[in-house]
Amino acid sequence: MVTISDDTRTSAGLGTKSEPLLRVRDLTIEFPSAGGWQTTVDGVSFDVGAGESVALVGESGSGKTVSSLAVMGLTAATGGRIARGSIEFDGRDLTKVHEREWRKLRGRGMGMIFQQPIRSLNPAYTVGDQIAESVRKHLGLDRKAAMARAVEMLELVQIPRAKERVTEYPHAFSGGMCQRVMIAMVMACNPRLLIADEPTTALDVTVQAKILDLLRDLQEQTGVALLFVSHDLAVVAELCERVVVMYAGEIAENAAAEEVFFRPQHPYTSGLLASIPQPGLNADRRLVAIPGGIPAAADWPTGCRFAPRCGHVTPGVCDVGHPPMASVPTGEARCLRVQDLDLQGVSVR
Ligand SMILES: Nc1ncnc2c1ncn2[C@@H]1O[C@H](COP(=O)(O)OP(=O)(O)OP(=O)(O)O)[C@@H](O)[C@H]1O
Ligand SMILES: [Mg+2]
Repeated sequence: MVTISDDTRTSAGLGTKSEPLLRVRDLTIEFPSAGGWQTTVDGVSFDVGAGESVALVGESGSGKTVSSLAVMGLTAATGGRIARGSIEFDGRDLTKVHEREWRKLRGRGMGMIFQQPIRSLNPAYTVGDQIAESVRKHLGLDRKAAMARAVEMLELVQIPRAKERVTEYPHAFSGGMCQRVMIAMVMACNPRLLIADEPTTALDVTVQAKILDLLRDLQEQTGVALLFVSHDLAVVAELCERVVVMYAGEIAENAAAEEVFFRPQHPYTSGLLASIPQPGLNADRRLVAIPGGIPAAADWPTGCRFAPRCGHVTPGVCDVGHPPMASVPTGEARCLRVQDLDLQGVSVR
C-alpha cells in the first residue's frame, strides 16, 4: 500500500480541513415495501467542497439517484423518507428545513440535471421562456432582464445563434442541445452546486464528450461544485477530482480520483476498473465483467454486501461481519480484507 501526503489525504474527502459546501453524514433512506419500510440507501457519508467535482459511481441500483435526490430535498416527492442522517449545505442541516426553504435552495443554491433532458423540458414553451421563468422566480428579474439572461446562458453553454434559438421550442433541439438548455436553465440562477445524474448516458459518444467539456468549462468559469453521478468510471476519469463508489446502498470506497484509478482499495472498485475499456492500456487484456449482479435491498447479505461476487472473499470472514468504513492511506474503503489485498488498478500512468 502506498502512503500519500497529508494534502492528498485531506482532498480524499472526510476530514476536509475547511468546511465543505455539502456535507452528507450517515444518510439513510427508506421506501415502503410489502414488508414495511425498506432501507435502500444505508449510512452514506461524503463531502463536496466548494468548486470541487465529485463523482458518485456504481452499478445500476446502487443508490446513486436516491442519494442525489435526497440532497435536492426530493425524497418525499419520490415516496421515500430520510430515516437517519444529515445533509448539511453551507453549514445548514437541510433535513430539518421546511419545504419552502428547499424550494428556494433548489433554484439558487443547487440545481440538478438528469439523463433525459427532453423529458425535463416543457414542449409547450420556448426554451427562452423556460430559462426566463426560472430566473424570474429565483432571482426576481423582470421579463426583459430574464430574457436577456436566457440568451446569455445559451451563449454560455455554447449554443450557436443563441439570440434566434432562444425563441424556439424544445422539439427543435437535438438531445445534446436539450442537455445544454437544461444546464443553461440550472446555471442561470448561479447555483453553488450542480448535481448531474447520468447527464450523458442518453447521448452518443461525441456529444457526450462535448457535454463533459462544457461541464468542465462551466466549473472553471463559475466555480460551481459538481456532484457527477455515473455508472461509468471511464466517464468520470477526466472530469472529477474525487470518486465515491457506491455498492448496494452504501459507500464502498471514497478517495481522490487518481488514487481510485491507480490504487483501488476495494475489490468492487478494482472490478469496475477491470470492466472498462482503456484504449492503448488494456487493449491486449480481456475485459472482465464482475460476475453476478447487485442484490436488491431486501436481499442484502448480512456480511459484506459484495462478498458473493468478490474474487478475494475469505469464507468465514467476509460473509459473516458487515465491514465498517475504514481509513486507508488513500481515503476510505469498506472491506474487511483491505490490509491484505494488492488490487489491480489502471496499469499505466
Ligand atoms: N421511488 C422508489 N420507490 C421504491 N424504491 C425505489 C424508488 N426509487 C429507487 N428505489 C430503489 O432504490 C434502489 C436504488 O435506486 P437508484 O435509482 O438510486 O439506483 P442508481 O444507482 O441511481 O441506479 P441507475 O444507475 O440505474 O440509475 C433500487 O433498488 C431502486 O429499486
Ligand atoms: Mg440513477
